[in-house]
Amino acid sequence: MTALFLISATFFLIKNNLNLGIYYSSMNQNLPPVVKSWPLVGPLYMLLKDPVNLIKKSYEKHGSVFTMKMFGQSATFLIGPEVSKHFYTAPESELGKEMYKLLIVALFGPNLNTEAAIQLVLKGTRPKMLKCYVPQILTEAQDYFSKWQDCGTVDLVHEFERLITLAIARCLLGRDVREILNERIPALLRDLSGGILPISVLFPYLPIPAHNRRDKARDNLLHIFSNIMNSRKNSPQPEEDFLQTLLEDGDDHINSEQISAFILGVLFVGKHTTASTAVWTGAYLLQHKTYFSKVFEEQKELFGRHGLKIDFDILREMDVLYRCIKEATRMAPTTIVKPRYCHKNFTVTTKEGKEYTIPKGHIVATSPAMGHRLNHIFKNPDKYDPDRYLSAEGKEMASQPFSYITFGAGTHACPGETFAYIMLKIIWSYLIRNFELNLASPFPDCEWNGTDKILVHYKRRQLSI
Ligand code: HEM
Repeated sequence: MTALFLISATFFLIKNNLNLGIYYSSMNQNLPPVVKSWPLVGPLYMLLKDPVNLIKKSYEKHGSVFTMKMFGQSATFLIGPEVSKHFYTAPESELGKEMYKLLIVALFGPNLNTEAAIQLVLKGTRPKMLKCYVPQILTEAQDYFSKWQDCGTVDLVHEFERLITLAIARCLLGRDVREILNERIPALLRDLSGGILPISVLFPYLPIPAHNRRDKARDNLLHIFSNIMNSRKNSPQPEEDFLQTLLEDGDDHINSEQISAFILGVLFVGKHTTASTAVWTGAYLLQHKTYFSKVFEEQKELFGRHGLKIDFDILREMDVLYRCIKEATRMAPTTIVKPRYCHKNFTVTTKEGKEYTIPKGHIVATSPAMGHRLNHIFKNPDKYDPDRYLSAEGKEMASQPFSYITFGAGTHACPGETFAYIMLKIIWSYLIRNFELNLASPFPDCEWNGTDKILVHYKRRQLSI
């Protein structure tokens, strides 16, 4: 779904360009090769139906830089680390993110100030704060899994969406937001996600039931969060948390509508990306039981050494689990296509030494889904192999810059990465120590379409670690 979100962003811009005006290049420079397709609509249908396959075929035919044309708009893809540096490091004034704007308004209303939201996430996920979150997430996980029976079958998608929403709320959003999550909120968040359909791409406000549900859910959620913020304001006993500092007059102060939009944005983005990663981590671990056993052994060793304790530093020692999560995110990144809008010409040089100029006015895009499957970067890219990140001496190796891009890189790199890893490690460490687990539904046949359901049989271990 997140993948769809980002493809959608591309097309919002295409639609928007009819108003923005398109810059055509009169330069006689080395423009990238153009993917052959239908007049006017270009490869739109394929891009919506099977984007990764279209990007793969275009890469095989044209190499790492190619342009697709749709409705008079050119979208140039940059595939692989050799041609991606500018994409990730250019300032906003050269490669802008304006194509996200309409989607952001449709999902979170007009009051989300994205720049302020990014700063808030950065503040809320400073190392000192992250250390405090560990026991809170652990408590959420223990409470959540204590409700499971001794054995049974669960849908990982459903379970992780709920648990991760609770964990995010508890850490970043405060006691009162966390408390209301047991009831209506997960269902409303689901309606919000359900409102990003392929058709929403071109017609975000088409009056169809899914959009109506999305808009109602958004308004309801904003209303609920706004009420919470208003009761906080009127409460004689102020909360002692991150949101309270925003409500009070100070450098960080923002109004309650903006805070409500921020709460919604954080819950939505965090849940979407982190829950999906938790699901894929499980799917791969349960399909590759050797790694499941390796993670189990690592847990036994760590808990043997440290006793029944988890803190920030012990989490950092969970190297095998970390690599298993990282490899799951390489195989199934939450993003298919990441778009930007080009405000200033730039050039790229491919690994074969060809130079191309990308003109102002193009949409420029990278694709983690494709970039993570490049043979010359990741040997046997279709194989789940968490040990690929180790050197011959068994040490963690740094990846080539801009090759592993699950969390983006450079200027807009994800500020929630460490927080996400903390949640993922705590949850999977807990599950593996306390349950025997087996896949009860087939492994999903495609990593790009999101997963509706992954069923798992669980049985509580007699002697958990
Ligand atoms: C496994 C979990 C996650 C993944 C895979 C992920 C992925 C990403 C990616 C790829 C980007 C860059 C988008 C771009 O370049 O256009 C991004 C940006 C961002 N992420 Fe995450 N994310 C995750 C978890 C989180 C969490 C938990 C939060 C907040 C609590 C968060 C907040 C943000 C924000 C605010 C940005 C915008 C940064 C900017 O534009 O400068 N993410 N994320």
